[in-house]
Amino acid sequence: MRQKIVAGNWKMNKSFSEAEETLDELVNLLDEQEKTDVNIIVCTPAIYLEMAVDIAESSAFAVGAQDVSAYEKGAYTGEISATMLNSMQVEYCIIGHSERRKYHHESNAEVAQKVEQLLGKTITPIVCCGEVLAEREANRQFEVVKQQLSESLFQLQPLDFTNIIIAYEPVWAIGTGKTATPEQAQEMHAFIRGIVEDKYGKEIAKKLPILYGGSCTPQNAATLFAQPDVDGGLIGGASLVAQDFMKIINAF
Ligand code: PGA
Repeated sequence: MRQKIVAGNWKMNKSFSEAEETLDELVNLLDEQEKTDVNIIVCTPAIYLEMAVDIAESSAFAVGAQDVSAYEKGAYTGEISATMLNSMQVEYCIIGHSERRKYHHESNAEVAQKVEQLLGKTITPIVCCGEVLAEREANRQFEVVKQQLSESLFQLQPLDFTNIIIAYEPVWAIGTGKTATPEQAQEMHAFIRGIVEDKYGKEIAKKLPILYGGSCTPQNAATLFAQPDVDGGLIGGASLVAQDFMKIINAF
């Protein structure tokens, strides 16, 4: 039985007080209902992590960052290291998000370095992959995702691979309202599990959580999560509203 995971990616949204309010609301919503078996993660902007970790202490969600430095420490102005995240009790970190690849030219090699940094500090990386529209139109999505994953993850020892979460996020679906169909998501998730199996064997592939991301909403989450290889979601826009995020958690 694989973990069910719903992770919110707040991106660069909310003031401090709005962030606090949303998390308080999430705590209340979680308190009101029976315990869920879904692993809930909220990835806030770095500057709110301390507050989020404080609030999460008395609730059923964990806190993640949205990026980490590829380096351990030193003269990297503006960067945040895995050591720093670990010292703030941050348990997860998104890396290789398409927005970081696009606006910050993050490469697969850099993602590989970030994975190493995070695993070294017992933070679980949520590694994003996914093709852009032109690549899907050219039917190159499998080749693209395979290259992203092999260049950013396949340097890992098998044991480390058991601490990884993969998020498949077709770039054409992110923030566009254009969700992948459940069949498209399932097809890619099964493909990803297959290449992981080829590299690391059946046992590791079977346990690997693979999340879908890209315009996942309270309306479409249930059919996506019903797919056998979809183990949850990485939720952008809909994670900003506590009630919507809660509906997605309950869509399992
Ligand atoms: P979206 O973003 O849900 O707003 O499409 C998903 C993501 O980028 O993680």
